[in-house]
Amino acid sequence: KKVTLSIIKADVGGLAGHHVVHPDLIATATRMLSEAKESGIIEDFYVTNVGDDLQLIMTHYRGVDSKDVHSLAWDTFKEATKVAQKLGLYGAGQDLLSDAFSGNVRGMGPGVAEMEFIERTSEPVVAFMADKTEPGAFNLPFYKIYADPFNTAGLVIDPKLHSGFKFEIWDLIEHKQYFLNAPEDSYDILALIGTTGRFTIKRVYRKDNNEIAAAVSSERLNLIAGKYVGKDDPVAIARAQSGFPALGEILEPFSFPHLVAGWMRGSHNGPLMPVSQKDARCTRFDGPPRIIALGFNIKDGKLIGPTDLFDDPAFDETRRTAQIIADYMRRHGPFMPHRLGPEEMEYTTLPQVLKKLEEKKI
Ligand code: F6R
Ligand code: MG
Ligand code: MG
Repeated sequence: KKVTLSIIKADVGGLAGHHVVHPDLIATATRMLSEAKESGIIEDFYVTNVGDDLQLIMTHYRGVDSKDVHSLAWDTFKEATKVAQKLGLYGAGQDLLSDAFSGNVRGMGPGVAEMEFIERTSEPVVAFMADKTEPGAFNLPFYKIYADPFNTAGLVIDPKLHSGFKFEIWDLIEHKQYFLNAPEDSYDILALIGTTGRFTIKRVYRKDNNEIAAAVSSERLNLIAGKYVGKDDPVAIARAQSGFPALGEILEPFSFPHLVAGWMRGSHNGPLMPVSQKDARCTRFDGPPRIIALGFNIKDGKLIGPTDLFDDPAFDETRRTAQIIADYMRRHGPFMPHRLGPEEMEYTTLPQVLKKLEEKKI
C-alpha cells in the first residue's frame, strides 16, 4: 500500500501585515483536519506556518492530486479565511484566486508538494517551507543535494546513490518539462535551473529504480493571476537516508544563504535565511526570505515528530551571514540587482507607475 505525503499551503491572511499567521487560523485548520482524520479522509496531519503562510502537512492513502484531499485543503483555507476576515487580518483569503473550486488546488492559488511511495521500515522525510520567495529558490540547494558530490558524500561513497538522480524540471513559462540525469546531464540541468524565475526542479528520482526522492511546489501566482498577487512562497519534500541523501546532506546546502527573489513586495533579491519555527516570521523589509525544515518519520501512515531542524546553533553562522548579506543588499535601495530585473517586475505594481510616466515622455 502506497502512502502519500502532501503539503498544501496558502496565505489566507497575516497578523499585522504579511508577517505571521494568527494562532486562530492554525486552530481552525487543526480542527478541520482533525475532523478529516476522524472520518478517514487523511491518516494524519501537522499544521504550522512560516511567515504569513498556513501549512497543511498531511498523510493519506489517496494518491497525489486526490480530489478528497485537495477539497479538504481548499475548504480548510476557506474556513480560515472566514476567521481572518472576522479578525480583520491583513490580506484575508489572498491566495485563493478562484471562487469555483474544481477538485484540485493546482492553478487555484495554493502551493502543493506531494509524493506517493511505499513506506520503508523507517521512512525519514524533511518538509521544507519558505516565505517571501518563489519555487526557484529550491533550485540551487536541490541541485547540490542530488548532484553535487562536494555537498552529498553519498554520491561518491554509497553504491545506492552512486548512479545518481533524475531531475524533472518544469518550464513555468512555456509549460514544458525536461527529464535530465545527473551526473551525465549536469551542465544541461544547470543551464536551465540557473534561470530560477522560469525553470524549477519539480521532482527528483533515484535514477536506478525511479524511486521518488523529492518534490517541490511549482505554483507561480502571478502567472496564474496575470498580475502581482504575492509571491509563491514554496514548499518541498525530501526523503532521507538508506538510498537517499542523509538528513545532514539534505540540510547542508541551506548553510549557504543564497540570494533568492522575493522579499519586499516580491520585488527584491535577498538571502534565504534558515530559521527555527519560532523565528518563522517576516519582519525586516518584510523578510528576509526565510525557510524552515521539519523532520518527520512516517510510520504506518502516521507522522512521527516533528523535529525543528534549523533550530540549531550549527546554523547560527548562516543566519549571521544572512544578516550581513541583507545589510549589503539593502544599501542598494531601489537599484538592481537588489530590486529584480524588468521581466520579473512586470508582475508587480511598477508597470502602473511607468505607465503614468508615459505622459511625460517627449
Ligand atoms: C511579499 C509581500 C509583502 C507585500 C508588502 C506590500 O510577498 O507579501 O512584502 O508585498 O507588504 O503589501 P500591500 O501591497 O498589501 O500593502
Ligand atoms: Mg501575504
Ligand atoms: Mg507568504
